[in-house]
Amino acid sequence: MKISQLVFLFVLTLCFFVSWGATHPFNVDDSEDLISCLQSKTNNVTSISQLIFTPVNSSFQSIWEARVNNLRFIKPSTPKPSVIVTPIDETQIQTTLFCSKKHGYQIRIRSGGHDFEAISSSAVVPFVMLDLVNMKSIDVDVGKRTAWVQAGALLGELYYSISQKTNTLYFPAGICPTVGVGGYMGGGGYGTLVRKYGTAADNVLDVRFMDVNGNILERKSMGEDLFWALRGGGASSFGIVLAWKLRLVPVPEIVTVFGVNITLEENGTDIFYKYQYVAPSMDRDLLIRVQLFSEFIGNTTNKTIKMWFQGLYLGKTDTLLQLLDKDFPELKVRRENCEEMSMVQSSLVLADQGFTTSTPTEALANQSAIERQSWNYKIKLDYVRTPIPKSGLRKMWRKIFENDQSEMLVIYTFGGKMEEYSETAIPYPHRAGVLYQFLKGVNFADQTSDMTPTSLKRVQWLQRFYKFLEPYVSKNPREAYLNYVDLDLGVGRDTYEEASVWGESYWKRENFKKLIRIKAQVDPENFFRHPQSIPVFDYPLVSTS
Ligand SMILES: Cc1cc2nc3c(=O)[nH]c(=O)nc-3n(C[C@H](O)[C@H](O)[C@H](O)COP(=O)(O)OP(=O)(O)OC[C@H]3O[C@@H](n4cnc5c(N)ncnc54)[C@H](O)[C@@H]3O)c2cc1C
Ligand SMILES: *[C@@H]1O[C@H](CO)[C@@H](O)[C@H](O)[C@H]1NC(C)=O
Ligand SMILES: *[C@@H]1O[C@H](CO)[C@@H](O)[C@H](O)[C@H]1NC(C)=O
Ligand SMILES: *[C@@H]1O[C@H](CO)[C@@H](O)[C@H](O)[C@H]1NC(C)=O
Ligand SMILES: *[C@@H]1O[C@H](CO)[C@@H](O)[C@H](O)[C@H]1NC(C)=O
Ligand SMILES: *[C@@H]1O[C@H](CO)[C@@H](O)[C@H](O)[C@H]1NC(C)=O
Ligand SMILES: *[C@@H]1O[C@H](CO)[C@@H](O)[C@H](O)[C@H]1NC(C)=O
Ligand SMILES: *[C@@H]1O[C@H](CO)[C@@H](O)[C@H](O)[C@H]1NC(C)=O
Repeated sequence: MKISQLVFLFVLTLCFFVSWGATHPFNVDDSEDLISCLQSKTNNVTSISQLIFTPVNSSFQSIWEARVNNLRFIKPSTPKPSVIVTPIDETQIQTTLFCSKKHGYQIRIRSGGHDFEAISSSAVVPFVMLDLVNMKSIDVDVGKRTAWVQAGALLGELYYSISQKTNTLYFPAGICPTVGVGGYMGGGGYGTLVRKYGTAADNVLDVRFMDVNGNILERKSMGEDLFWALRGGGASSFGIVLAWKLRLVPVPEIVTVFGVNITLEENGTDIFYKYQYVAPSMDRDLLIRVQLFSEFIGNTTNKTIKMWFQGLYLGKTDTLLQLLDKDFPELKVRRENCEEMSMVQSSLVLADQGFTTSTPTEALANQSAIERQSWNYKIKLDYVRTPIPKSGLRKMWRKIFENDQSEMLVIYTFGGKMEEYSETAIPYPHRAGVLYQFLKGVNFADQTSDMTPTSLKRVQWLQRFYKFLEPYVSKNPREAYLNYVDLDLGVGRDTYEEASVWGESYWKRENFKKLIRIKAQVDPENFFRHPQSIPVFDYPLVSTS
């Protein structure tokens, strides 16, 4: 072919792409066709029409925003769904799946909407958002110590429902009451009972699940491999979780919550240093978390670090004080720092919502009681397996001082029950040897967006801090947590080598390879996909290496 011909072809192709791109960037049918499809599959058009929203509906924006938990994404430039469907039963989910596939739309599944990268609410391709907000029934069986919970229910609603029936059973899940059951269990799930009972996914007994063909499966009919994958491998790579069956765990009627603040001037460095050794190996009835804040000292321009140590002890204050006196006297926890309460009240108090023991426990299940204003941030998470030396801690404080106090730094200790699971028991691999998980982020709540010069400076600080921590955190791989999904880790997926950059961080090699094999079996066409979903390759993977 001559050069001129090549150029002609190139120009032709370019024109084609430009005009095609302008009108229809992706090969999908009109959303009218999709909606007709949704309506034609039902015997009650009135009923389904009330559950379908397109941008012409006045409530479209508010339905979309309602569960975009991270306010960073609520802005005009965030790509929105072509259609939102809020099904009230499983048949409507089947119909949504069928019609989306038929008309070339992808699906994003949204339960609680707490996705840190808004993957559940947004996509750069035409998509239907399956919003499970109406599917939130909770059925607690105290006698059998189990609960069936639909995916759209929130953790606070689960805690509240359990507490309405018993105060000696609970479910070991997360801290924030508005996190959705649907996403949470699929990523693993840590919380205040993690040292005693492991992750939430460890306590999932069964599931109701819809595969890419619309079949409804349970543990028995799906087989152990897929059931394994759904508990920590990210359910949204495989299909739609309709409900989880959970094992409820025993808790005492009375638990104790305590809190103390310690600054660097009060030997904070020494105490934090010791915390790293003591807290992960203490009695598994006790979990101590720490939040770090940089503060100016009085009205000077010098900064300090304030460390807010908060603990949950599954027992009474007397025993707790004896335990701390023996293992961690430096913390100087006194009786007046402790408060006895029920387990469900501890979820209120530790939710960081300004709730106290006098707040009615209904607040856990009341979304309008939860303050959302400040939830505008970028988060990253690390696992620490070796205590950071004092010299490292001092360097770390100085690094934190470089930021403008917008940092969010939260530490949860592991150990205890977490030591007993093998890394491959479920896809969630951050087990024996993890001392604590270290969440770090920056908040943009006082900014008009995450793109202001101040916000960008904060993000840059976070990236520098992430780099700074490298020698002190887990390595090969530097472990990351799927529920704290972080697209900075990469989105390459054309080959195993590319995908392993983020995939092995979330799951480690053996689990990631197993997830890829299971994905190839249950969704070979890769219908359920998003930037960090389990990839499908056109070559088979060797079993492990
Ligand atoms: C304020 C806050 C506090 C948090 N606290 C904790 C904590 O204490 N412990 C902890 O482990 N994590 C915590 N997280 C992280 C949380 O577990 C994850 O964000 C989790 O994915 C949220 O689930 P969701 O249903 O609310 O999210 P969604 O945004 O609805 O979904 C998240 C992901 O799961 C997929 N998904 C959702 N529902 C389904 C379904 N039914 N079937 C298949 N896939 C589905 C989505 O497509 C998406 O990929 C917290 C997050 C926030 C924002
Ligand atoms: C169809 O649904 C609407 C709204 O939910 C309801 O009012 C109506 O009674 C239903 N009709 C039939 C025939 O079930
Ligand atoms: C959205 O708008 C369409 C067209 O006006 C209408 O038919 C439909 O009922 C509306 N949906 C809802 C949920 O109000
Ligand atoms: C510790 O400091 C935090 C942050 O300033 C504050 O919210 C909390 O109430 C303090 N806790 C105690 C026990 O003083
Ligand atoms: C700090 O530690 C030193 C030495 O261990 C001790 O003498 C001092 O009393 C401690 N100070 C505080 C405020 O705890
Ligand atoms: C700090 O506050 C004190 C008392 O309020 C005041 O006397 C002092 O001058 C202040 N120092 C500075 C540096 O502003
Ligand atoms: C502030 O820091 C400087 C330098 O480290 C020190 O000289 C000064 O005493 C500090 N001031 C206060 C109030 O701590
Ligand atoms: C939910 O919380 C809001 C705001 O605090 C309150 O006004 C409302 O009464 C609460 N609803 C219930 C049912 O408790």
